Amino acid sequence: MTTSQHDPAPNPHATEEQVAAAYADTKLAQVLYHDWEAETYDDKWSISYDERCIDYARGRFDAVAADAELPYGRALELGCGTGFFLLNLMQSGVAEKGSVTDLSPGMVKVALRNAENLGLDVDGRVADAERIPYEDNTFDLVVGHAVLHHIPDVEQSLREVLRVLKPGGRFVFAGEPSTIGDFYARWISRATWWATTNVTKFGPLQSWRRPQSELDESSRAAALEAVVDIHTFDPGELADLARRAGATEVDTATEELAAAVLGWPVRTFEAAVPPEKLGWGWARFAFGGWKKLTWVDEKLLHRVVPQKFFYNIVITGTKPSQD
Ligand SMILES: C[S@@+](CC[C@H](N)C(=O)[O-])C[C@H]1O[C@@H](n2cnc3c(N)ncnc32)[C@H](O)[C@@H]1O
Repeated sequence: MTTSQHDPAPNPHATEEQVAAAYADTKLAQVLYHDWEAETYDDKWSISYDERCIDYARGRFDAVAADAELPYGRALELGCGTGFFLLNLMQSGVAEKGSVTDLSPGMVKVALRNAENLGLDVDGRVADAERIPYEDNTFDLVVGHAVLHHIPDVEQSLREVLRVLKPGGRFVFAGEPSTIGDFYARWISRATWWATTNVTKFGPLQSWRRPQSELDESSRAAALEAVVDIHTFDPGELADLARRAGATEVDTATEELAAAVLGWPVRTFEAAVPPEKLGWGWARFAFGGWKKLTWVDEKLLHRVVPQKFFYNIVITGTKPSQD
């Protein structure tokens, strides 16, 4: 398992000047925000590398690529973060060898550490998804989770994806926010943050309040979040964009409506209170509730609610074969 010796080092403690500059430079903001989060990211988002997240990652992949012939030989992940998507897909048998890339050196470092702990055959590089530092026709599969909406020129990035894919190779990007989903998720999250941080100012609930310095740090991070979250998508428009980039066999699926309405306040609440206050009972409630509502989404709401109201978009496409 290797990373390029020329990759920059993580910078988890940005200076005030750097943060100020990041408001006018979305890529600097990505690096500062995600380097800052890298070491705590798995805990913050309840990311694991066991059956729970293996099933989740595989479910997102199968939503658009259930007919794929597995395993793929060599797979690349863009915006890997801590490796949640590719490492769990590899554990489920989707690919044999992986390369993780991210704009944030801190994230690549954590993803490689996670891969090593799991005994997976993975290398990694710090890389911008708009200029992927690999040769043409290198990969059988390119994946990403919650990354396209951070990239300024998504079409350019998909052109790069098609360049590094072998002819006939496939891409799968999951966890992209729909425009309507993002709107309700943000409002629910803001209301949850406001209610939790205010209610815990008083009386016996004060023991549920995180130290003010941590809350202030979270608020500063939330301000940067507004700079790093660039796009939301309409499923049909995203598919058109992939075709314009040169992809064929493009398909999209959407997921999570009721599950998102539960999931966003749960995650916001978890970020707003001291972690030690939430035990196994809470974890069971959060995961059990999410699973039940996912069932409601899949079995009931998908039949009656238009695609664009669901929170998450998954998209796949292939690089045209040469013949
Ligand atoms: C929301 S996080 C998702 C991380 C991970 N894929 C996951 O689902 O847990 C988005 C990631 O994309 C990375 N990123 C943002 N812009 C990028 C770009 N232009 N090129 C490569 N990575 C980028 C960020 O540094 C961050 O790690």
